[in-house]
Amino acid sequence: MTATATRLTVPGRCARLKASSSRDHDSVDELVMAARPFEDRERYARFLQVQHRFHGSLLALYHDELLNDRLPGLMQLSRFAAVERDLLDLGLALPSAPPTVSASPAQALGWLYCSEGSNLGAAFLFKQTQRLGLDGNEGARHLAPHPDGRALHWREFVARVDGLALDAGEEVEVIAGVIAAFDSYRGHLRAVFAGG
Ligand code: HEM
Repeated sequence: MTATATRLTVPGRCARLKASSSRDHDSVDELVMAARPFEDRERYARFLQVQHRFHGSLLALYHDELLNDRLPGLMQLSRFAAVERDLLDLGLALPSAPPTVSASPAQALGWLYCSEGSNLGAAFLFKQTQRLGLDGNEGARHLAPHPDGRALHWREFVARVDGLALDAGEEVEVIAGVIAAFDSYRGHLRAVFAGG
């Protein structure tokens, strides 16, 4: 079998994760837009609470030693500190730290895939924050692109996740982690924006 044929028949792990979670992604995307988080600063403040819950629940994974061995540089990718600075920029009190997600190392890869991928869609969200007079220096730091651009870190992350050797059981766990991450995001959105 040629290398090209192999690539066609065995897509990378992240490509498979994308295919397995595209419906979840689309439902989260729709829920975010239905919440109208960029209509005014009050609604954007609520969106920041969602982000605080989600990224805060993953902070321990970003700092996990084993995961950093497998994904070098992971620690630097967390956006939780930037979310907290955004809240402070808007003059809001910091909520208490959310509980850490419970995930096996393989499930954790799925959660991290979801969180890192959300940086791509953040390009669209970042533009919307301009309507509120916010930017990467004030209020929308966590949505701003990395100085090296959004694509570079995503490509590096995908290459590292794709390159990990996992057994069949772990492959199933990674997908379960992605789905759990989208579920949790949906839960935070519903809780924070309950009642409109
Ligand atoms: C209104 C909200 C959102 C919009 C409009 C949106 C839009 C997008 C777009 C356009 C991409 C593809 C970008 C590209 O291929 O260059 C993308 C990728 C992705 N988004 Fe979102 N997104 C939103 C919210 C979210 C949220 C809240 C999460 C996670 C909690 C998320 C997770 C992901 C993931 C994991 C990918 C990567 C898929 C892959 O290529 O493997 N997105 N998003």
